[in-house]
Amino acid sequence: MTVQTVIVLAAGEGTRMKSAKAKVLHSVAGRSLLGHVLHAVDHLKPEEVRIVVGSDREAVEAHILQIAPKATTVFQQHRGGTGHAAQIALADTTAHGTILILAGDTPMLTGESLAAFIAAHNAGNFAASVLTAEHPDPTGYGRIIRDDSDALLKIVEEKDADENQKIIFEINSGVYAFDGAALASSIGKLNNANAQGELYLTDVIGILKSEGASVAAIMIDDFTEILGVNDRIQLAESAALLRDRINDYWMRAGVTIIDPTTTWIDSTASISNDVTIHPGSGIYGTTTIASGAVIGPRTTLTNCQIKEGASVLESIAIGTVIGEGSSVGPFTYLRTGTVLGDSTKAGAFVEMKNSTVGTGSKVPHLSYVGDATIGEGSNIGAATIFVNYDGVDKHHTTIGDHVRIGSDTMLVAPLNVGDGAYTAAGSVITEDVPAGAIGVGRAKQRNVLGWVMRKRAGSKSAQAAEATEGQ
Ligand code: UD1
Ligand code: CA
Repeated sequence: MTVQTVIVLAAGEGTRMKSAKAKVLHSVAGRSLLGHVLHAVDHLKPEEVRIVVGSDREAVEAHILQIAPKATTVFQQHRGGTGHAAQIALADTTAHGTILILAGDTPMLTGESLAAFIAAHNAGNFAASVLTAEHPDPTGYGRIIRDDSDALLKIVEEKDADENQKIIFEINSGVYAFDGAALASSIGKLNNANAQGELYLTDVIGILKSEGASVAAIMIDDFTEILGVNDRIQLAESAALLRDRINDYWMRAGVTIIDPTTTWIDSTASISNDVTIHPGSGIYGTTTIASGAVIGPRTTLTNCQIKEGASVLESIAIGTVIGEGSSVGPFTYLRTGTVLGDSTKAGAFVEMKNSTVGTGSKVPHLSYVGDATIGEGSNIGAATIFVNYDGVDKHHTTIGDHVRIGSDTMLVAPLNVGDGAYTAAGSVITEDVPAGAIGVGRAKQRNVLGWVMRKRAGSKSAQAAEATEGQ
């Protein structure tokens, strides 16, 4: 094991977000900021993870319980700075081994880069290492101060930096590795004699250095990995960078993405090769897409399972399974619990929820299907409504195999329509239809001859009708 303890600092208020919600709970690419950091940390397989929480504590703790139930939380009652947060996290333990400390607001960091950083720290046997990068616009970050021989001296915060220090491009990522004993001996020596009146964790580097310990600045090539999110502009920047990173990954894996700038794929989704994604699409949550599927344009899939060769055009689907070779859209809304079998169709202006559609069955046009089971090879005529709600309770409808539901049928649940049965177009079906029967539930038509000429005399309709007389 290369790292024993990981401490994640996540107690800050995130004032610059101007949000009722803690900063670390804001999300990009399908994970909270904290979730991205914990995902990267997970790659290191540490013995323990401690997260310092403070602002919006209940919500942050509830979130941690969901995404990282094994992590422990430490409460920082008042925000005394990053050094104060680290002191609290270390208060009740005898620190040992290698300790990694990082912030909860750097969603771009990868597990691979953290592992390389820890490996370099351990290999150099340093008392402390800081991960750094050269940033084209270092404003706001702590600057890395090196001596004449290029060795790390200390870190100076933007607010405490003089003019010469402000023009340094090498910045502090906020990611540190410490020898546990060295950290334990120095963390108590921090003071708040600085511009912000806080205890800075960054000062530990200077303290250790002045005591003769060996400290290292380990630089990462890609500065985008260490970007911190402090406001909504940086939130959008990191979302765009993650979007590009994720899209590049899938394109390298054989996915055709027609327009990567308008295609948003969560880091939790998974896509097979030879899938094509058209512009303006979002692939969210735990969605999986199998080979040969065609998605979009302008389609969003959340927590869906799309099987081989299916196509989903201009549609929204949530919690839905779409079977092999099936076709969905355009303008289709599939809600949670929809399971489309293989070779099925959910066509234009169709809404479905909590319904199973058997192999080869079709709902081609303008229908609502709710709380239903449809067998195999059945066709649901245009404008059919599954009337599932009586104003109090929801009821189920079961449709058999090879059924033909006529256009504009109201299927009033609870209801069973047997195998091979038909319903007449325009029917309101309130009773079960046995196998092989046709259900007819509508008033018999009668024609009142001459009505228009009598009741709408002189109208264009009447004139048109009269013109046909004698023809
Ligand atoms: C910090 C570093 C800076 C570095 C930058 C990288 C210090 C003093 N400065 O600045 O050198 O370039 O990160 O992004 O460390 N936090 C707590 N408790 C507190 C204060 C902060 O838990 O009392 C947490 C915050 O929630 C956040 C992290 O520590 O996750 C960093 O705090 P933040 O205020 O964002 O520090 P920066 O100003 O970005
Ligand atoms: Ca920050």
